[in-house]
Amino acid sequence: MDVLEFGCGTGTTALIHAPYVKQIQAIDISSKTLAIAQRKADTEHIENVTFQQITIEQLEVPENTFDVVMGHSILHLLENEDAAIAKVYRILKPGGIFVSSTVCIGETIAFFKIIGPIGHFLRLLPLIKVFTPQELEEKITHAGFAIDHQWQPGKGKSVFVVAKKPA
Ligand SMILES: C[S@@+](CC[C@H](N)C(=O)[O-])C[C@H]1O[C@@H](n2cnc3c(N)ncnc32)[C@H](O)[C@@H]1O
Repeated sequence: MDVLEFGCGTGTTALIHAPYVKQIQAIDISSKTLAIAQRKADTEHIENVTFQQITIEQLEVPENTFDVVMGHSILHLLENEDAAIAKVYRILKPGGIFVSSTVCIGETIAFFKIIGPIGHFLRLLPLIKVFTPQELEEKITHAGFAIDHQWQPGKGKSVFVVAKKPA
Protein backbone atom coordinates (compact mmCIF):
# COMPACT_ATOMS: atom_id res chain seq x y z
CA MET A 1 0.00 0.00 0.00
CA ASP A 2 1.00 3.59 -0.64
CA VAL A 3 0.15 5.57 2.49
CA LEU A 4 -0.05 9.25 3.42
CA GLU A 5 -0.13 10.40 7.02
CA PHE A 6 -0.80 14.09 7.62
CA GLY A 7 -0.03 15.73 10.96
CA CYS A 8 2.37 12.86 11.64
CA GLY A 9 4.00 14.57 14.65
CA THR A 10 7.03 12.66 15.88
CA GLY A 11 6.34 9.79 13.50
CA THR A 12 5.30 7.06 15.92
CA THR A 13 2.24 5.94 13.94
CA ALA A 14 4.02 5.98 10.58
CA LEU A 15 6.98 4.01 11.92
CA ILE A 16 4.71 1.37 13.51
CA HIS A 17 2.91 0.87 10.19
CA ALA A 18 6.03 0.95 8.01
CA PRO A 19 6.84 -2.80 8.05
CA TYR A 20 3.38 -3.63 6.69
CA VAL A 21 3.18 -1.28 3.70
CA LYS A 22 5.11 -0.34 0.56
CA GLN A 23 5.78 3.26 1.49
CA ILE A 24 4.52 6.06 3.72
CA GLN A 25 4.67 9.78 2.98
CA ALA A 26 4.43 11.40 6.41
CA ILE A 27 3.88 15.15 6.52
CA ASP A 28 3.70 17.75 9.26
CA ILE A 29 3.82 21.53 9.56
CA SER A 30 6.48 21.38 12.30
CA SER A 31 10.17 20.93 11.49
CA LYS A 32 10.89 20.18 15.16
CA THR A 33 8.61 17.15 15.36
CA LEU A 34 9.83 15.96 11.93
CA ALA A 35 13.46 16.09 13.10
CA ILE A 36 12.53 13.77 15.99
CA ALA A 37 10.61 11.51 13.60
CA GLN A 38 13.57 11.25 11.20
CA ARG A 39 15.94 10.45 14.09
CA LYS A 40 13.62 7.63 15.19
CA ALA A 41 13.45 6.27 11.61
CA ASP A 42 17.24 6.35 11.32
CA THR A 43 17.69 4.60 14.67
CA GLU A 44 15.20 1.88 13.66
CA HIS A 45 16.69 1.61 10.12
CA ILE A 46 13.28 2.23 8.54
CA GLU A 47 13.68 3.39 4.96
CA ASN A 48 10.17 3.32 3.47
CA VAL A 49 8.90 6.36 5.38
CA THR A 50 9.56 9.83 3.95
CA PHE A 51 9.09 12.73 6.34
CA GLN A 52 8.31 16.08 4.75
CA GLN A 53 7.60 19.54 6.14
CA ILE A 54 4.43 20.60 4.38
CA THR A 55 0.85 21.20 5.45
CA ILE A 56 -2.10 19.16 4.24
CA GLU A 57 -3.34 22.39 2.64
CA GLN A 58 -0.10 22.88 0.67
CA LEU A 59 0.33 19.26 -0.36
CA GLU A 60 -0.13 18.73 -4.07
CA VAL A 61 -0.44 15.19 -5.34
CA PRO A 62 -2.43 13.79 -8.26
CA GLU A 63 -5.90 12.33 -7.76
CA ASN A 64 -6.08 8.62 -6.92
CA THR A 65 -2.53 8.42 -5.49
CA PHE A 66 -2.86 6.66 -2.12
CA ASP A 67 -4.37 3.41 -0.88
CA VAL A 68 -4.64 4.74 2.67
CA VAL A 69 -4.57 8.21 4.22
CA MET A 70 -4.23 8.62 7.99
CA GLY A 71 -4.87 11.75 10.03
CA HIS A 72 -4.71 11.36 13.80
CA SER A 73 -5.52 14.15 16.28
CA ILE A 74 -5.41 16.70 13.48
CA LEU A 75 -8.83 17.40 11.93
CA HIS A 76 -9.95 19.52 14.92
CA LEU A 77 -6.81 21.68 14.58
CA LEU A 78 -7.32 22.72 10.95
CA GLU A 79 -8.76 26.05 9.75
CA ASN A 80 -10.86 24.19 7.17
CA GLU A 81 -11.27 20.51 8.01
CA ASP A 82 -13.93 20.10 5.32
CA ALA A 83 -11.45 21.13 2.61
CA ALA A 84 -8.86 18.74 4.08
CA ILE A 85 -11.32 15.83 4.09
CA ALA A 86 -12.30 16.65 0.49
CA LYS A 87 -8.62 16.64 -0.49
CA VAL A 88 -8.11 13.28 1.22
CA TYR A 89 -11.03 11.94 -0.81
CA ARG A 90 -9.53 13.22 -4.07
CA ILE A 91 -6.05 11.82 -3.50
CA LEU A 92 -7.25 8.38 -2.38
CA LYS A 93 -7.60 5.68 -5.02
CA PRO A 94 -11.14 4.31 -5.54
CA GLY A 95 -11.67 1.82 -2.72
CA GLY A 96 -9.03 3.64 -0.65
CA ILE A 97 -9.31 4.05 3.11
CA PHE A 98 -9.22 7.16 5.31
CA VAL A 99 -8.32 6.37 8.92
CA SER A 100 -8.69 9.13 11.46
CA SER A 101 -8.91 9.70 15.19
CA THR A 102 -10.30 13.04 16.27
CA VAL A 103 -10.94 14.78 19.55
CA CYS A 104 -14.65 15.61 19.62
CA ILE A 105 -15.23 17.96 22.54
CA GLY A 106 -18.64 19.01 21.25
CA GLU A 107 -20.44 16.50 23.49
CA THR A 108 -18.55 17.34 26.70
CA ILE A 109 -17.48 20.99 26.64
CA ALA A 110 -19.72 22.50 23.98
CA PHE A 111 -19.28 26.00 25.48
CA PHE A 112 -15.76 25.91 24.05
CA LYS A 113 -17.43 26.65 20.72
CA ILE A 114 -17.89 30.21 22.03
CA ILE A 115 -14.78 30.82 24.14
CA GLY A 116 -12.43 28.89 21.82
CA PRO A 117 -12.61 31.30 18.86
CA ILE A 118 -12.41 34.32 21.19
CA GLY A 119 -9.34 32.86 22.93
CA HIS A 120 -7.81 32.08 19.55
CA PHE A 121 -8.52 35.60 18.24
CA LEU A 122 -6.83 37.05 21.34
CA ARG A 123 -3.91 34.65 20.73
CA LEU A 124 -4.48 33.05 24.12
CA LEU A 125 -5.50 29.64 22.76
CA PRO A 126 -4.60 27.50 19.77
CA LEU A 127 -7.31 26.91 17.20
CA ILE A 128 -9.42 24.00 18.42
CA LYS A 129 -12.57 23.16 16.51
CA VAL A 130 -15.55 21.87 18.44
CA PHE A 131 -17.59 19.08 16.97
CA THR A 132 -19.59 16.11 18.18
CA PRO A 133 -18.96 12.56 16.92
CA GLN A 134 -22.12 12.91 14.80
CA GLU A 135 -20.91 16.17 13.24
CA LEU A 136 -17.56 14.56 12.45
CA GLU A 137 -19.32 11.60 10.84
CA GLU A 138 -21.41 14.01 8.73
CA LYS A 139 -18.29 15.84 7.56
CA ILE A 140 -16.70 12.57 6.43
CA THR A 141 -19.77 11.19 4.70
CA HIS A 142 -20.53 14.60 3.11
CA ALA A 143 -17.17 14.30 1.29
CA GLY A 144 -18.39 11.05 -0.29
CA PHE A 145 -16.95 8.44 2.08
CA ALA A 146 -18.83 5.46 3.43
CA ILE A 147 -18.09 4.81 7.11
CA ASP A 148 -16.69 1.30 7.53
CA HIS A 149 -16.10 1.46 11.26
CA GLN A 150 -16.51 4.03 14.00
CA TRP A 151 -15.37 3.62 17.59
CA GLN A 152 -15.11 5.85 20.64
CA PRO A 153 -13.65 4.35 23.83
CA GLY A 154 -15.84 6.61 25.99
CA LYS A 155 -17.65 9.94 26.12
CA GLY A 156 -15.25 12.81 25.48
CA LYS A 157 -12.57 10.48 24.08
CA SER A 158 -11.20 10.57 20.56
CA VAL A 159 -13.40 9.15 17.84
CA PHE A 160 -11.78 6.63 15.52
CA VAL A 161 -13.22 6.41 12.03
CA VAL A 162 -12.36 4.08 9.18
CA ALA A 163 -13.97 5.45 6.03
CA LYS A 164 -13.90 4.11 2.49
CA LYS A 165 -13.92 5.90 -0.86
CA PRO A 166 -16.31 3.87 -3.01
CA ALA A 167 -14.54 1.68 -5.57
C1 LIG B 1 -1.96 16.79 18.20
S1 LIG B 1 -0.60 16.52 17.12
C2 LIG B 1 -0.89 14.84 16.61
C3 LIG B 1 0.38 14.15 16.21
C4 LIG B 1 0.18 12.67 15.82
N1 LIG B 1 -0.67 12.52 14.65
C5 LIG B 1 -0.39 11.90 16.97
O1 LIG B 1 -1.54 11.43 16.89
O2 LIG B 1 0.31 11.77 17.98
C6 LIG B 1 -1.07 17.44 15.68
C7 LIG B 1 0.07 17.52 14.66
O3 LIG B 1 -0.44 18.12 13.48
C8 LIG B 1 0.51 19.05 13.00
N2 LIG B 1 -0.22 20.03 12.17
C9 LIG B 1 -1.00 21.06 12.58
N3 LIG B 1 -1.57 21.67 11.53
C10 LIG B 1 -1.16 21.01 10.42
C11 LIG B 1 -1.42 21.15 9.03
N4 LIG B 1 -2.21 22.13 8.58
N5 LIG B 1 -0.85 20.28 8.15
C12 LIG B 1 -0.03 19.29 8.62
N6 LIG B 1 0.27 19.12 9.93
C13 LIG B 1 -0.29 19.96 10.82
C14 LIG B 1 1.18 19.61 14.24
O4 LIG B 1 2.45 20.14 13.98
C15 LIG B 1 1.24 18.36 15.13
O5 LIG B 1 2.43 17.63 14.92
